[in-house]
Amino acid sequence: MGIDTEVAIVGAGPAGLLLAHLLHLDGVESVVLEARDREYVEQRVRAGVLEQGTMDTLREAGVGERMDRQGAVHEGIELRYHGAGHRIDFAELTGRAIMVYGQQEVVKDLIERRQADGLPLLFEVEDVEVDPDAPAVTFAHEGERHELRPRAIAGCDGFHGVCRHATPDGVLSERTREYPFGWLGILAEVAPSTHELIYAHHERGFALHSLRSPRLSRLYIQVDPHDDIENWPDERIWQELHTRFEKPGWTLEEGPVIEKAITPMRSFLVEPMQYERLYLAGDAAHIVPPTGAKGLNLAVADVRVLAEALTAWLTTGDDSQLDSYSEKCLARVWRVQHFSWWMTSMLHRFPEEDEIQQRLQRAELDYVTSSRAASTMLAENYTGLPYGWEAA
Ligand code: FAD
Ligand code: DHB
Repeated sequence: MGIDTEVAIVGAGPAGLLLAHLLHLDGVESVVLEARDREYVEQRVRAGVLEQGTMDTLREAGVGERMDRQGAVHEGIELRYHGAGHRIDFAELTGRAIMVYGQQEVVKDLIERRQADGLPLLFEVEDVEVDPDAPAVTFAHEGERHELRPRAIAGCDGFHGVCRHATPDGVLSERTREYPFGWLGILAEVAPSTHELIYAHHERGFALHSLRSPRLSRLYIQVDPHDDIENWPDERIWQELHTRFEKPGWTLEEGPVIEKAITPMRSFLVEPMQYERLYLAGDAAHIVPPTGAKGLNLAVADVRVLAEALTAWLTTGDDSQLDSYSEKCLARVWRVQHFSWWMTSMLHRFPEEDEIQQRLQRAELDYVTSSRAASTMLAENYTGLPYGWEAA
């Protein structure tokens, strides 16, 4: 069965859902296709930090109301090492802040808005096939095969999606770096032991204390990427957390672990992020290591550019913004790749690290926590460079 639409969006993560909503606000029609069911995408625990620009985008798009009620604005973070904490004051250094609000809450808000607007968002689609040359997207839904013949396709289907692979060989250059560690993340039913995020560097490896709500804590430790979660009973995780966060006079409170998983870490991207009328956005085009919480924010930055470029083309026929979509996004993508790599390198323990490497990490931490110029660099990148920065 054929379905009419202007833009086919593959994937209902933050990138696909926000793109659909921004296009709708500009009067452009789209259909969103999602492989999983609604409950699965709404429960998937991932990132939790929104940059200043991401929170402003959600507010301006009229989907920030619950975020403003339930999220928490943070004006700094702590870097902790050698038993001492050092605050990086974002508000004072940059006048900007971050919002702690779970990615799945952003996803819930966007799904609810899409449904309230009565616009097409199909869950549990199967066998999605993308033809960027036509352009066309075919898929199965509720036992029937369908075809979309849109003007453009947005590949928002994450790292494991199909859109990136629908381009002919050799069109996209892929760049990948795997890190020799992963993050074991837990969600625990306990009041956070801190008001601000703590990034800890310790000889046993990195640890991060984040938050979700007054009664929910999110914690991570660096582990071997090939380790099995079965090797990590809750007591062992807490023990490791206590050790890595140790600071005189400070206590980590424990609580029931309600979710735990190990995620490998990589830097990945494709250049360009487009082929014919197929445009890749978010994790479909790039992955950054999670130190610095950039993945979701980069997805939002991509779809802002894409929504504006698609709207200009579909309403006036001018495709110059679409032509420069990839170049414009990649300027930010490379900046964020560098920041995420830098934070990762400064804070993690690398296998077979020599003493020079350890002293270099320590020198970097001492500099970042003592120099106004260096801490401003961290604060500016962490809270997110303003949109349009790349054109300046
Ligand atoms: P996704 O959120 O991956 O959404 C893609 C969507 O496409 C999914 O819903 C998927 O089901 C759907 N899809 C896939 N294939 C198809 C298909 N063939 N047809 C239709 N739909 C399809 N970032 C951080 O900053 N901090 C973190 O702690 C953090 N933790 C993470 C943990 C994990 C396990 C992962 C995978 C990522 C994590 N990230 C984290 C990264 C961050 O969550 C992502 O950058 C963000 O989700 C990107 O959004 P997206 O919409 O581009 O992709
Ligand atoms: C969270 C994740 C991150 O990668 C990060 O750097 C900070 C916070 C989080 O899930 O809360």
